[in-house]
Amino acid sequence: MCGIVAALAARNVQGILLEGLKRLEYRGYDSAGMAVLNEAGALTRQRAKGKVAALEEKLVHGALTGRIGIAHTRWATHGKPSEVNAHPHLARERLAIVHNGIIENFEPLKRELEGDGVVFESETDTEVVAHLIARAFVETDDLLAAVQTTLDRIDGAYALAVMHADAPREIVGARKGSPLVVGVGIDENFLASDALALLQVTDRFIYLQEGDVVRLSDNRGIEIVAADGSPAERPVHAFEHGDSAASRGEYRHFMLKEIHEQPAVIAATLEGRLSGSHVLESSFGVGARGLFERVAQVHIVACGTSYHAGMVARYWLEKLAGLPTTVEVASEYRYREVVVPADTLFVTLSQSGETADTLAALRYAKSRAKTSGYLGALAICNVPGSSLTRESDLALMTQAGPEIGVASTKAFTTQLVALMLLTLSLRKSRGDERETTLVQALRGLPTVLDSALAMDGPIAELSEAFAEKHHALFLGRGTQFPIALEGALKLKEISYIHAEAYPAGELKHGPLALVDADMPVVAVAPNDELLEKLKSNLQEVRARGGELFVFADEGVALTAADNLRVLHVPAVDEFLAPIVYTIPLQLLSYHVAVLKGTDVDQPRNLAKSVTVE
Ligand code: G6P
Repeated sequence: MCGIVAALAARNVQGILLEGLKRLEYRGYDSAGMAVLNEAGALTRQRAKGKVAALEEKLVHGALTGRIGIAHTRWATHGKPSEVNAHPHLARERLAIVHNGIIENFEPLKRELEGDGVVFESETDTEVVAHLIARAFVETDDLLAAVQTTLDRIDGAYALAVMHADAPREIVGARKGSPLVVGVGIDENFLASDALALLQVTDRFIYLQEGDVVRLSDNRGIEIVAADGSPAERPVHAFEHGDSAASRGEYRHFMLKEIHEQPAVIAATLEGRLSGSHVLESSFGVGARGLFERVAQVHIVACGTSYHAGMVARYWLEKLAGLPTTVEVASEYRYREVVVPADTLFVTLSQSGETADTLAALRYAKSRAKTSGYLGALAICNVPGSSLTRESDLALMTQAGPEIGVASTKAFTTQLVALMLLTLSLRKSRGDERETTLVQALRGLPTVLDSALAMDGPIAELSEAFAEKHHALFLGRGTQFPIALEGALKLKEISYIHAEAYPAGELKHGPLALVDADMPVVAVAPNDELLEKLKSNLQEVRARGGELFVFADEGVALTAADNLRVLHVPAVDEFLAPIVYTIPLQLLSYHVAVLKGTDVDQPRNLAKSVTVE
């Protein structure tokens, strides 16, 4: 949830750290800070409440100079957003630490340190770790050993970076439950929560594994110690996506750029995975074929937008592949006594591959693999090398490229495409006409999405009807119900309008009571078998004076009237309609947020990657 960046370089590091923080701001943005060891051997620090821009402003008047430093952008867990709670935290004025995650046993440790006379400056759990390492350093005189001793005492999930004025050319990092990568430079090395933060200085990365501790130093380069205490070698990966991913280009917001990238990233997600008229199940990894043949049911687990993708897939897996499927949010699944029938495939969906609840759900499923009916775990994920992909038996990477906007867009539609590939791969009747038709439709999908993006102008106009409203209702049926949920989620995330979604058939069981002229109702109405039923639901809204906005295929016989606006969405195979109908709803929430003047890419209180429970 927080972003970490650290640099041990042969040049001044302030600019590198600041640029890194800007690129990590999607991970949290309630305060930011930086500590640099200056040439006189003293730790210097600047911190500011608010976004990285506030820190940047402070650095204009009070620049930090030195060749080694650590920095942080925060999403508050322990202690309110304030300068005093902002990282880096110091201990004994000689040690500085930045930390992402939660230390669950910080209270007894804090009491112990207070008993030793330590006076705490902040309300954070992080400061406890700072003091523990500083105390261990006095005994060991070795920063890496001091960090290891401390980690043995703390419970929770974390990534951290530490430096000490008495080990002036060293930075030690550690990860357990939160991501941390090493950026490999020439005579300089870096740490960050995400490779994106370091693309301005390197394109070579080591993705640390769970429990790894790493030391960057001038004389020994990069040393990694695995969770069991043994020295470890980890491969260096070249970063696959160009640096353009981290810039907005011609677009006003990352979210708009990412919405418009969807035709291209969907084409990339399909590339190499279709052959003639069928799906190559080998795309799912070695052993996928044998495993898929045995699958008798599917359990899907995810959070947020990724969960909505799973909900669409349930309709597909049941209708096209005949597989009983359950879909559940990870925070519920992980604490439930899950009954697992024989031959069940466990599937996680995640843009980041680091969401704490989803990872915990995977570990829970794996811990039960021997005694339950799980055949194996498949991750559908957007970040190569992420914890979720490393810990799963099979992985299918979506090719959305880095997604910076906190509200997920292209990650969602590429997940849907990946889930359609999975559905087709799991069908027992492979290679039939249904598969041929859908593979053709998938190949044509980028072009259909281009036409859907052309709805931008009319939707921008439509958004005016929402900007002054406080509530909105979204309706859909079948695969469009999760799309209605996703449309409502987008609207609330970035425009702060309260929005709810219902399966349209439920309208009369409660939400209809809310419908009046102040409650715009959005309906997604492709030309599918549920259309006639949906139309009756819409009549129920109109009869109560509700204002209706219907997204529908050209072929749908609905005529605009006083309180009924119809927007035509390009037609496509009914199974792919949820992917196409997502686009206008993304555009709608985007334009409403722009009209309201909210922070589109970094909405209040949220973070892109939720690596705490
Ligand atoms: C956060 C993000 C959402 C995302 C969810 C799950 O809440 O703000 O956009 O859908 O996490 O993230 P994941 O990376 O697991 O897909």
